[in-house]
Amino acid sequence: MSKGRILSGMQPTGVLHLGNYEGALRNWVRLQSEYEAYFCIVDWHALTTLFDNTQQIKSNIREVAIDFVAAGLDPEKCAIFVQSDVKEHAELHLLLSMITPVPWLERVPTYKEKQEQLQMESASYGLLGYPVLQAADILAYKANRVPVGRDQLPHLELSREICRRFNNIYGDIFPEPEAMLTEYPVLPGTDGRKMSKSYDNAIYLSDSAEDTVKKIKSMFTDPEKIYKNDPGHPDTCPVFALHKVYNKEETDKIDTECRAGALGCVICKMRLAEKLNEALAPVREKRAELIADPGKLDRILADGADKARAVASQTMAEVRHAMGIG
Ligand code: TRP
Repeated sequence: MSKGRILSGMQPTGVLHLGNYEGALRNWVRLQSEYEAYFCIVDWHALTTLFDNTQQIKSNIREVAIDFVAAGLDPEKCAIFVQSDVKEHAELHLLLSMITPVPWLERVPTYKEKQEQLQMESASYGLLGYPVLQAADILAYKANRVPVGRDQLPHLELSREICRRFNNIYGDIFPEPEAMLTEYPVLPGTDGRKMSKSYDNAIYLSDSAEDTVKKIKSMFTDPEKIYKNDPGHPDTCPVFALHKVYNKEETDKIDTECRAGALGCVICKMRLAEKLNEALAPVREKRAELIADPGKLDRILADGADKARAVASQTMAEVRHAMGIG
């Protein structure tokens, strides 16, 4: 039986990597069976930073959608859709913007960071309103819970504040959405830093088995273990961190052998690559199927948008009525 409704969103950044999978997707796949679930690819949010560089967005949306489905999101169980396909998000964003005090938005830490990073003369109105659009994404579905990473908590808090303010002024329309945090391991990339597209250290769901072997072979290891027989320090080794996720059964053994100087890094890496390729094989197979049949992906996204619109348009009818406006 459904425990309620969840919604989450992801920006169309292009192909997803293992960090995205462990940090979000794996959890979403589990949740789709327990909740009525909506997963939104937020292309309008991407415009807050990519407004002058939009050629990639369409293909990035498709890559993300392919990875969603390949990783196990089932379009029969949940709605997978593109934000700009459901115009209700834009209408709700506009209406919510009328009741959102500017200082609430100026206080959001991600706004301040982005403003500095972008080094724009001045940040755009849209960037300031990023969390209002996110609130609209969530409230359009009256989502009860929102599975997100810790970094999204300030945005979620703002969504809750906007929700309360709306309900106070116009009557109880929206349930207050709750963040749903799940602890997950932060995966290191090939250079030992956090896996991230911008560091060029990521292993992608779309990588071939051979690419994966190459990337694992090139990984940083414990810098104090130079020769095979040197005792290693698994705690600080990024290869070991990945063993802990993809090779749980052998973790203890590898830990002991590495510390004793009985296991060389080359063999240790080969073992990891094997396990990783084993785990990724079904994802890659599904990816290939979807790429071979673009019409299928079109249908998944169209169906997802229909399902989403059915709910969002109902909410908007209630919102317009409560506000006394067409
Ligand atoms: N801001 C989120 C991120 O960068 C993406 C997002 C947009 C989102 N709308 C959402 C997440 C609604 C959860 C719910 O990760």
